[in-house]
Amino acid sequence: MVHNVVFVLGPPGSGKGTICAKIQEDFNYIHLSAGDLLRAERQREGSEFGALIEGHITNGTIVPVEITCKLLENAMKAAGDVRGFLVDGFPRNQNNLEGWNAEMTGKVDEKFVLYLSCPVDICISRCLNRGQGRTDDNEESLKKRVVTYNSQTFPIIEHFEKSGQVREVKSERPVEEVYADVVKLFS
Ligand code: ADP
Ligand code: C5P
Ligand code: MG
Repeated sequence: MVHNVVFVLGPPGSGKGTICAKIQEDFNYIHLSAGDLLRAERQREGSEFGALIEGHITNGTIVPVEITCKLLENAMKAAGDVRGFLVDGFPRNQNNLEGWNAEMTGKVDEKFVLYLSCPVDICISRCLNRGQGRTDDNEESLKKRVVTYNSQTFPIIEHFEKSGQVREVKSERPVEEVYADVVKLFS
């Protein structure tokens, strides 16, 4: 069975999780956050990847795709019959993209890339006020996450842009305004 996939990208704190939760509620799309899946795997008793994932999260670097793609694929298999998946925070770099393409080509129909664009200073202050107790929502990790975003993730968005797959929505506005534009892409 070929699943519809929408990639959701944007800087840390741009509102990916917030918007995906709303799409999941209103459309039959399942929200899969790569970061959430990695955090769950980090916590899982007996996981052989806990320490490695923790190191990457603290340093704002990207976990090797073999781990992340497997977590995504397992979550998709577990979800059953849905309209599609919102793959949030992935592909984050060239390694993510190549590993996904090698594993998932033919198994998924990539609809588009939702790019939530937002000035970095706003994103950082949102992360510092997120209040979810994340170990990487501190000034030092955030600086590193922004460097990774600019050097590795933004080029992936540009790559998708070249093939006309990117739908940009400016997300520095109130959530309801952002979401009103996002809804048009799913209706
Ligand atoms: P991401 O998943 O992209 O890192 P989140 O959805 O977790 O971002 O949002 C980061 C923080 O910013 C959260 O506290 C969230 O409530 C808040 N937030 C998200 N979108 C907006 C918005 N449009 N305006 C103001 N705050 C927002
Ligand atoms: O998207 P989120 O902010 O939850 O990601 C948190 C961290 O999880 C990233 O900074 C990175 O260390 C890790 N991550 C990753 N590969 C992804 C998504 C997230 O390594 N594709
Ligand atoms: Mg998130």
